[in-house]
Amino acid sequence: MRISLWLMGGLAIVCGNSGLHAESPSEIYQRLVIPLIQSAKSSSCSECHLQGVKLDDFLTSDPKASFASLRARGWIDTKQPSESKLLQFIAKKPENSTALMDQVRKAELEGIGHWIRASVQDPESLNTPLPELNDLNLDEKLIRHARKDHVLSRFVDVVWSQFERCANCHSPDRNAKQVEKNGKQMSWIVPNSPGETLKLLEERKLINLKNPMASLLKTKALGQDEHGGGIKFPMDGQTDREWSQFLKDYAAIKQGRYLKSNEIPNFESIRTWRTGLHLRIQELPTLPAGQYAVILVHRISPDGKLDEESIAFGEGRVSKDGASWSTSLMLLEPTRLRHTHASVDWNVLLPDGRYQLRWIVVDHSSSPIEEILAMRSIMRTEIDSLWKSGHSNAKTISYGAFKSSDASK
Ligand code: HEC
Ligand code: HEC
Repeated sequence: MRISLWLMGGLAIVCGNSGLHAESPSEIYQRLVIPLIQSAKSSSCSECHLQGVKLDDFLTSDPKASFASLRARGWIDTKQPSESKLLQFIAKKPENSTALMDQVRKAELEGIGHWIRASVQDPESLNTPLPELNDLNLDEKLIRHARKDHVLSRFVDVVWSQFERCANCHSPDRNAKQVEKNGKQMSWIVPNSPGETLKLLEERKLINLKNPMASLLKTKALGQDEHGGGIKFPMDGQTDREWSQFLKDYAAIKQGRYLKSNEIPNFESIRTWRTGLHLRIQELPTLPAGQYAVILVHRISPDGKLDEESIAFGEGRVSKDGASWSTSLMLLEPTRLRHTHASVDWNVLLPDGRYQLRWIVVDHSSSPIEEILAMRSIMRTEIDSLWKSGHSNAKTISYGAFKSSDASK
């Protein structure tokens, strides 16, 4: 028969093998909760919150102070401790959780649950004065920003939305020839799965968390690193800026670098979705090589009415010889119309028909898209129909087709 001796606040209690441990909340905390806080394994929260809520953001080395803080936040139900919000947070299980995380969740529920149930019966814990709410290291805006579902929806809005530009060579449902020629590493898009794609990009180190601006995903697309697919976006243009913003933000979240939500950058409010419509303008007037310029696309309805709001946008830099400019068009603001998270029917949203194209030479490629859309363009032309998707079907227009018109109309 084993006899154990428990020392509690100077009082020695001897228990038999009945299993009745009169362990104090502090002792429970030391034995079961502190190891969870110190564990190298991530906490259960991290399956859905990439930053902002780790156990040690709200559980310190001091059990009584932690208990009081959690009560102040309303995360402890002293009447029905098992219904405590904190335990409900821990019990949340994402769809594709792992066996390892099941263990973590179980250990947290048991350890923290045991501690909470003991604390609500302990006068000393209950009498600890409740602190001001802001004593905890929790920032609601940061918690929201770093939630995995929010991160993923920014990935879709900013990066995935542009993959029409990459899919022919990098998506396994389209790139058989490319793989044959250049190898398996050509496939880094997981069709219809932005979440799996983001994971793969990170595993393959195409996103560089230490130095996000050096991520191959970006440097290859810009042609900064030699790229078999050539230059896909103009450096410092709208897509480049937004991708950079996403990569920096993602790396900061993944590495827990944000201290407060005021460090979170602003993303542009207008979202774009890349279409497969390639456009080239030739026989340009003398423009410096590398000059940034955009095309705004305006719909003309069958009754001849011109929509003053652009439906699509294209950005690019003038070629080295100064003679041509090319891009693939981006549909503007399709977010509210999105059917599924992974795709936008751009060919439905940008239906065939008449369109006016407006050419604008933009001095500063860093101008926000809102500003560019508000710029007056006098060089305009009309097309009677759209063209087919794909690089080989690119539409070529001579600059001579653009007529100078009165921009005030
Ligand atoms: C299965 C995914 C998931 C897990 C695991 C998860 N959360 Fe959340 N959390 C969410 C979602 C989604 C929201 C948004 C609001 C909601 O569900 O009510 C949220 C919101 C929050 C909020 C802010 C709003 C509120 O309701 O007070 C806090 C704080 C929070 N979670 C803390 C935690 C903590 C702490 C853990 C770990 C013990 C955790 N969460 C585990 C998905 C999760
Ligand atoms: C016309 C085909 C083509 C297109 C379109 C294309 N690429 Fe590529 N890409 C290649 C080829 C070929 C390679 C392999 C040689 C190399 O590394 O440059 C490659 C390699 C890469 C790699 C390195 C992969 C690895 O694991 O080594 C990245 C990252 C990349 N491309 C990003 C992009 C992005 C982002 C886009 C779209 C914006 C894009 N590519 C569009 C042809 C293409």
